[in-house]
Amino acid sequence: MTDTDREPSAAEPGVPDVAREVEELRQLIRHHLHRYHVLDDPEIADSEFDALFSRLVDLEDTHPHLVTSDSPTQRVGAEPSARFAAVVHELPMLSLDKCDSHEEFIEWEARCRSRVGYEGDLEFTCEPKIDGVAVSLIYQDGVLIRGATRGDGTNGEDITANVRTVSAVPLRLLGDTWPATLEVRGEVYMPLAGFRAFNEAAAKTGERLLVNPRNAAAGSLRQLDPKLTASRPLSMYCYSAGLRGAWEPDTQWQVLDAFRGWGLRVNESVVRVLGVKACLDYVRRLLEERDTLGYDVDGVVVKVNDFAMQSALGTVTRRPRWAVAYKYPAEEATTVLKGVEFQVGRTGAITPVARLEPVFVGGATVSNATLHNMDEIERLDLCLGDTVMVHRAGDVIPQVTKVIESKRPGDARRVVMPERCPACETPIERPEGEAVARCPAGLTCPAQRKESLKHFASRLAMDIEGLGDKLVDQLVERGMVKDPADLYGLDADALESLDRMGPKSAGNLIDALGASRHTTFARFIYALGIREVGETTAAGLANHFRNLDALSGASEEALNEVPDVGPIVASRIRNFFDDEHNQRVVRRLVVQGIEWPTPAKPVRSPLAGETWVLTGTLAAMTRNEARARLVKLGAKVAGSVSGSTTRVVAGPGAGSKAERAKELEIPLIDETDFIAILDRHETKDSG
Ligand code: IVH
Repeated sequence: MTDTDREPSAAEPGVPDVAREVEELRQLIRHHLHRYHVLDDPEIADSEFDALFSRLVDLEDTHPHLVTSDSPTQRVGAEPSARFAAVVHELPMLSLDKCDSHEEFIEWEARCRSRVGYEGDLEFTCEPKIDGVAVSLIYQDGVLIRGATRGDGTNGEDITANVRTVSAVPLRLLGDTWPATLEVRGEVYMPLAGFRAFNEAAAKTGERLLVNPRNAAAGSLRQLDPKLTASRPLSMYCYSAGLRGAWEPDTQWQVLDAFRGWGLRVNESVVRVLGVKACLDYVRRLLEERDTLGYDVDGVVVKVNDFAMQSALGTVTRRPRWAVAYKYPAEEATTVLKGVEFQVGRTGAITPVARLEPVFVGGATVSNATLHNMDEIERLDLCLGDTVMVHRAGDVIPQVTKVIESKRPGDARRVVMPERCPACETPIERPEGEAVARCPAGLTCPAQRKESLKHFASRLAMDIEGLGDKLVDQLVERGMVKDPADLYGLDADALESLDRMGPKSAGNLIDALGASRHTTFARFIYALGIREVGETTAAGLANHFRNLDALSGASEEALNEVPDVGPIVASRIRNFFDDEHNQRVVRRLVVQGIEWPTPAKPVRSPLAGETWVLTGTLAAMTRNEARARLVKLGAKVAGSVSGSTTRVVAGPGAGSKAERAKELEIPLIDETDFIAILDRHETKDSG
């Protein structure tokens, strides 16, 4: 049962507009299929392609007489390229129907139930929809004999040599319970940690960057030289059996179970559930976890678990009725770069920010994206007016990942770094070999003044409630506040003169300033805004020195002793306290009555003197949390492995650092052992 089993419908008179749109859509879709599958260089986001494709499917559904056998809808994927030997999939590799709302999902589930005539709750598997490349693996007598891409669903490409380099693909199955011929289907993907590490390395050597993990996986699998595939960090999750000889499993769950036993990788998050509500709960939960999984998922695949029911439901136009893809909001979209603005940060760093034609991506409308620095602009070869690919995942700042060169307008202009600071006109400096350009004016630059005041007042610093960005801007622009110490000299009358400030809010702000005088030493250090001194480092400094004189007088060597402080940070701290202006501000703050209790002498630091390195992804906590917990226990956390490293924590996707640790014979531990060590010391500490 394939493409031809559409319901015949009464022929309707040709509508020329529709016919034209259908033909235009087909041409467009063919163009993008070629860019994607043959050139590995897409011009639009996957979601945008999906939208074109769905539109064509809809039009063909409502105007069946317009369907032609060469329409792209009559194929599941793209033409296989001539670079690889052709394979024919004996059982076609199917596509999925999609839905993207609770309502649509509920309708799909109700249709399933009524078709099989079942009253109660159906059993489903819910599986992350891994965003990678569909692959078929054939095992003969337990030995991998062929790997193939899906291609158009029937005709794929033989990529046996390449899949053999993917370490998650067993070359021989475990045990002896598998059928003589077994076809395993699954998704080859690139874990995010590997993707980022690869791009960081490529950026250094000036190689072409991978656009996104999915494109990266596709491109890597279709290398003519398997050595190149082997050098890419690929992995695989298996999700179904195609050919399976005499093996007759009853359910999808049984297949996944058997796979695990044979050494095939099955996603950790797959579940078997009963009923529609449990499916929707899973869809919601996985979306919440989406950013922490360590690989891209673009939705959830829900499948009727029972194979007898699957057969009863059947397959229409290569889309099974027994499965559906619940799609998550796309994290990628294309839009137009309208301008680039240069922002001056707290430490004078000049950051180019892209002003974009607003676009809906990752569940929000985005009109700005960071461009990091000029090197990034050059690497992207970005011009004003360009069409660009924008990526937004979770709460991460949106990024411009690619320029669609073929859409560059004739009048596109290069982006140039201004010569002078946009806030204070001081000539911008860019030290040799550094990516970041800076305004060297320090706190005489109004932009830096504003940003450092905002930082000083922020929640994790002095936490001055009611002192928002707009207010800081006004205070600086009117010359009422030049540095943090001036804040404590403000009175209610002066505040009331500001825009949108009544006696009530002025009084509240005065109260908030008063309350912020009582703080902690760590917050105070953090609030000073010393370059490279984040909250964790500030806490380490506070516990180590315990009073301001000891800290401000400490030598670089003494600073270096502190957990989380290396030579660069030590010199930044020293420079900060050597600066006369800073000395004056700090003194005035103390005179204004800022005070804190002396931090208790650290009771014990079980990991004192140890240097740890974190690499790969952690599942139970973020890198920052892991680092904070180590620092609290007295360890230093370093960015690279050297002879003085005590231990390396390696999560999935760990690359060169783990290798270096092995070379140097430094103990490598996984996350489970790491958590055990943390727990042991932390409970001892509190007990
Ligand atoms: S089932 C029913 N399960 O999504 C047969 N597909 O259009 C269809 N995919 O490119 C496949 N994760 O490679 C299935 N757990 C999963 C999947 C999955 C990702 C991909 C698949 C194909 C697309 C389906």
